[in-house]
Amino acid sequence: MGPPGAGKGTQAELFQRRHGVPHISTGEMFRAAVRADTEVGRRAAEYMRDGELVPDAIVQQLVEDRLMQPDAAAGFILDGYPRTLVQADALDEFLARRGRALDGVVLFDIPEEVVLRRLTGRRVCPVCGTNYHVEHKAPHVPGRCDLDGAELIQRRDDAPETVHRRLEIFRRWTAPLVDHYRALGIFLAVSAQGTAEEVYERIQEFAASRAARAV
Ligand code: AP5
Repeated sequence: MGPPGAGKGTQAELFQRRHGVPHISTGEMFRAAVRADTEVGRRAAEYMRDGELVPDAIVQQLVEDRLMQPDAAAGFILDGYPRTLVQADALDEFLARRGRALDGVVLFDIPEEVVLRRLTGRRVCPVCGTNYHVEHKAPHVPGRCDLDGAELIQRRDDAPETVHRRLEIFRRWTAPLVDHYRALGIFLAVSAQGTAEEVYERIQEFAASRAARAV
């Protein structure tokens, strides 16, 4: 968990690539649903465009369907979910019914001015959803996705006024989850500043310590 632009998706992608654990991003699932013009996509689109949270019931159904897919049976990384206490409780209950629980929760700690720079420079592939940054993670051919050659775009919700709204939403609804997870003893706040590799190393150390306890 962490504010918009903190680097959650970037880190989750690295963990997926290096550890083979599926990266489950509710934001990416909603963007895919919008692109495919499904009913969920049509319901989520207006909330996302304005930087508001999609209603909990829609999110919960989407996540539970995804977590029941076979590739999530041995573990998963959640990115951008849960974002409210209602979602956190629903997730705890869903996992408990299956004899499972979260192993660890990482908060990406980062000043808002850094987040603003990251979001202004972010570019995304409209076809496969891969994220780039004009300075920190530039594509090989400027403006084109390395994977499929599509022309990169800026996310609509990266417009400055929408980013400010997303930051407000984070402070109001998501930041309170820190106490919930700290009380469970599975929480770590990491500095999300520095290179993506440096942030990865910090999280990797915590993930390894949590995995060692689970064995
Ligand atoms: P979502 O897609 O989850 O957006 P977000 O949480 O605001 O996060 P971002 O994707 O903006 O940022 P990130 O932290 O993943 O950073 P990234 O790695 O891309 O959600 C979008 C919307 O969907 C929400 O507003 C809401 O409407 C809806 N939604 C989703 N989940 C929901 C839920 N559970 N409940 C209700 N509604 C929900 O990095 C950002 C940029 O920085 C990139 O360009 C990257 O290359 C660069 N970068 C990353 N790390 C570094 C680094 N270490 N150094 C330099 N640059 C870096």
